Amino acid sequence: MADQSIIDRAKMPEAHNPILERRTVENANRNLLNYLRPGLTVLDVGCGSGAITRSIADKTGPTGRVLGIDPGSTLIAQAKQQANTMPGVAFQQADVYSFDTDERFDLVTCARTLQWLAQPKAALLNMKRFVKPGGHLAILDFNHEKIAWTPDPPQAMKLFYNAFLRWRQDAGFDNAIADNLDELMYSIGFPTVQVTEQFERTKKGEPDFSVASRLWSEVAELRGPQLVDAGYVTESQRQQAITEYDHWIETTGESMTVYLLAVEARQPE
Ligand SMILES: C[S@@+](CC[C@H](N)C(=O)[O-])C[C@H]1O[C@@H](n2cnc3c(N)ncnc32)[C@H](O)[C@@H]1O
Repeated sequence: MADQSIIDRAKMPEAHNPILERRTVENANRNLLNYLRPGLTVLDVGCGSGAITRSIADKTGPTGRVLGIDPGSTLIAQAKQQANTMPGVAFQQADVYSFDTDERFDLVTCARTLQWLAQPKAALLNMKRFVKPGGHLAILDFNHEKIAWTPDPPQAMKLFYNAFLRWRQDAGFDNAIADNLDELMYSIGFPTVQVTEQFERTKKGEPDFSVASRLWSEVAELRGPQLVDAGYVTESQRQQAITEYDHWIETTGESMTVYLLAVEARQPE
C-alpha cells in the first residue's frame, strides 16, 4: 500500500464533520433508492460517521443488514454511537484494500471515497468480491475539475481550491475519477456498466443554498490545516479563502454545481 503521507491525506479529520452528517440517501446518494428495500444486505465502504449508512438501514429495515466500514477509528466510534440500538446496522473499522469477510451482499456501495484512494482499481477489485451473484456494485464519486460556480468565486477561494486539487493529485488521487470509473469497472470484469449524472446543484433562493455552497469553506476549515502543514497554502490564505467565499455566498454568489456520477454494475450470476 501507499506511503504514510498518502494515507494521511486520505484520512478524514477527526473533528465533528457537518458535511458528512447532513447526508442521507435522498440528498446525497439517491441512485441507491433504485435498489433499497426491506430485507436487503448492504456493505457501505468508506461510510465516514455513518449518516448515509443509517439512512440506508432505515430503508432495509430490521430484516435487512447494513455494514459500514471505514478506517477512521473516531468516525467508526461516532457511527456506532449514533446508530445506537438501530436494528440491522453495524460498523467496523476496516480499510477497503484489506477488508475481508465471508459475507456476500446484495449491494456494495462506496460514495465519495475512491477520490481519496491512490489505487482505485485495487479497491474496486476487493469490493467486487463481496457482491452476491446478481447483486450490484454502486459507486458515487466526483470530478473536481468540473465544478461550476456562477459567478466565479473570489480569487482567494480559487487559489485554495486549486491548491486542494494539486495537494490531492500529488498524493496520487484522481481529481477526475468520476469520469474514469466506467473504464475501471469494465477493466475489473463487469460486462455492462451504467453511468448516471448525480450533479448537486444549489441556487440562491433555495433554502439550503448557503449551507450547501459552504461545502468549500468547510473543506478549508477541516482539510485546510493539512494543506497549510504540507506547504500548499499559508494559514492566512486559508483564512482569507473562508472569509471571502462566505461573503460571496451572502452577496454575489448565484449557484454552485458539483459534478458527481453514479457508476453501477451488476455482478454476473
Ligand atoms: C468524503 S468521505 C465520504 C463518506 C460517505 N461515504 C459520504 O458519502 O458522505 C470519504 C471517506 O473515505 C474514508 N476512507 C479513506 N481511505 C479509505 C480506505 N482506504 N478504505 C476505506 N475508506 C477510506 C475516509 O475515512 C472517509 O470517511
